Amino acid sequence: TIDDLERQFQQIVEADQRIEPRDWMPDGYRKTLIRQIAQHAHSEIIGMQPEGNWLTRAPSLRRKAILMAKVQDEAGHGLYLYSATETLGVDRAELTENLIEGRQKYSSIFNYPTLSFADVGVIGWLVDGAAICNQVPLCRSSYGPYGRAMIRVCKEESFHQRQGFELLMTMMSGTQAQREMVQESVNRWWWPSLMMFGPPDDRSPNSAQSMAWRIKRHTNDELRQRFVDMSVPQAEILGVTFPDPDLRWNAERGSYDFGEPDWDEFMQVVKGNGATSVERLKNRRSAHENGAWVRAAATAFAARAATAFAA
Ligand code: ACO
Repeated sequence: TIDDLERQFQQIVEADQRIEPRDWMPDGYRKTLIRQIAQHAHSEIIGMQPEGNWLTRAPSLRRKAILMAKVQDEAGHGLYLYSATETLGVDRAELTENLIEGRQKYSSIFNYPTLSFADVGVIGWLVDGAAICNQVPLCRSSYGPYGRAMIRVCKEESFHQRQGFELLMTMMSGTQAQREMVQESVNRWWWPSLMMFGPPDDRSPNSAQSMAWRIKRHTNDELRQRFVDMSVPQAEILGVTFPDPDLRWNAERGSYDFGEPDWDEFMQVVKGNGATSVERLKNRRSAHENGAWVRAAATAFAARAATAFAA
């Protein structure tokens, strides 16, 4: 019976074993995974845009080669995650439609503009740093294909974070103008990076169920705190500050206290009213439309190869 299946499923999850595509799973579990993994895939693909913006203006061949590799990695992560989503019985064409039509979300962070080259470093350091903090626990997610995908993604994200930090270290040992450029960029990205972890726990409708299913391993607030604690010593090494007057060490908790992100801004951005929201989706739509002939050619080629094989 369904009850037996459900019990069996929950036992597998609670024993920290993996649910695989052919295993029975509750509808809600499948839906939640499709929602989260598709949103994750969309974020990787949309996330190519803010940094892609600087490819033609990188200050040296070396910086350009690094940035190019990084943006290509993001494309790889997106495709990898679309494949993981497809194991749940959806089609990536449908997911892309959902993104372009605004029916599925992507990370709030990619709705902010990249105004200076320091943003490339700060995105690597803070945005990819936040992504790692959120995604390392997802390597132990109960759904096999997602957990396994996360291992590789996290390794590459670590490289991204280091390249960002190294870029910023270089700029911080440069001129006064370069140091100011880094600080200005940190000021703009700090709060949006904290928002990447999602709404506070008491306003996170999905957390409790996702934790019970062991899709998520920590709450949004737990990971946000971990990220703050990790970032403050790194900021000290770099010689930058975070724009938060309430940020201070709390010896009792053994953690940093910090201020409240502007959750109204977050809600606006998630609703599609971010500074670059319209542009991001417009670019995604036109890339999709301009790529139609490639998909048609690949499909025709695959069909012909299949016939040739059968004959
Ligand atoms: N940006 C956009 N939407 C968000 C964000 C965010 N930063 N945080 C939460 N939301 C959305 C959720 O998707 C949910 O909306 P939905 O039900 O319509 O899907 C709603 O806000 C409420 O949030 P939660 O109940 O907390 O949602 P959830 O349990 O899914 O937690 C989280 C959100 C932490 C982002 C989770 O989905 C997750 O860990 N996802 C995987 C990681 C990921 O997608 N990272 C983005 C890429 S970062 C990068 O690539 C650099």
